[in-house]
Amino acid sequence: MMRQSAFSPPGAEQILGWYDRHHRELPWRVSPSERLAGIEPDPYRVWLSEIMLQQTTVTAVRPYFHFFTEKWPTVADLAAADTEDVMKAWAGLGYYARARNLKKCAEAVAANHRGRFPQTEQGLKALPGIGDYTAAAIASIAFDLRAVVMDGNIERVVSRLFAIAEPLPGAKPAIKRFVDLLTPDERAGDFAQAMMDLGATICTPKRPACVLCPFNENCQALRDGDPERFPVKAARKQKPVRLGAAFVALSDQDTVYLQKRPATGLLGGMTEVPTTAWTARLDGATDCTAAPFAAQWKSMGVVTHVFTHFELRLTIYLGRTKQIETGKGWWEPLDSLDGQALPSVMKKAVAAAIGRIDESDQPQAVLTARKTGKP
Ligand code: ADE
Repeated sequence: MMRQSAFSPPGAEQILGWYDRHHRELPWRVSPSERLAGIEPDPYRVWLSEIMLQQTTVTAVRPYFHFFTEKWPTVADLAAADTEDVMKAWAGLGYYARARNLKKCAEAVAANHRGRFPQTEQGLKALPGIGDYTAAAIASIAFDLRAVVMDGNIERVVSRLFAIAEPLPGAKPAIKRFVDLLTPDERAGDFAQAMMDLGATICTPKRPACVLCPFNENCQALRDGDPERFPVKAARKQKPVRLGAAFVALSDQDTVYLQKRPATGLLGGMTEVPTTAWTARLDGATDCTAAPFAAQWKSMGVVTHVFTHFELRLTIYLGRTKQIETGKGWWEPLDSLDGQALPSVMKKAVAAAIGRIDESDQPQAVLTARKTGKP
């Protein structure tokens, strides 16, 4: 049992002391000791990491971050990059509007700000793809300005500290007021990162390690005996299901037929194998009558992919064919599929179809044959 001493509100100094000793080493981060030695964060790396980390874990982001910063070490390099190369490098990270905005933002910083990120939240928010959260995170982490940063980890920590009973998302404004109260005038960036690290490593959704927490004498939820109860969440609606069919055409030259999706909308500007429209009708088009051209289409099973607002179930067809000229797509050699801007759902579709050609292949083998350091 935790010692039940007099309860006092939490203070930033407690978590900053904890962060000095226990912070995570992250490739975009300047540690407290490096800061003391005069090393300043690179706003480009902070911005890039924050965009990549939206709805994505640190583990998933790391290899992408390395790939991007090696290929495009500065915002000017990214601004000058070919958009198609950026989309290819982003493939697999999801939420592709982020990649399109990333490129636009780099171009805006290079063209309108002489390659330097604006040093105010307001200036940052005027850039493509930078909203409230990202502007606050960059302002505090890169420029050490006082800004109120709130992400999922911080929401969990604060809702437990103050035992906030109102369910999310309605509780967000109340939680933000508490974050504001806690945020110090100095080291606001370290404070934000400390709260994120605490949420990721100690104040975890399940089985939080409260004995190790710097706030364990200040946490109302722990005092009440059930920290896992927080944050309270409104009941989740079940995601609707959409159905469709995907057509993986494999030619006698070992090439796969690919095409580009429209520039806007879901997976906008990314590469795909042809599919039917994705429909919510359960009697929707899942047979091969909508195939892009005649071939011996063979059903290879169903691939499921969960998007933010719906679950997609794609019936996969494999068709053996000659390299038919359609005037729309192109035929990509199997061994260069890895370098294409294929989102995860399309990689799954290709793997489901082609992984079965040679039973000795792992489903993903075709897609990971030529690794370049990028997943
Ligand atoms: N998640 C989002 N931004 C982060 C950061 N700067 N450090 C750790 N985790 C994060």
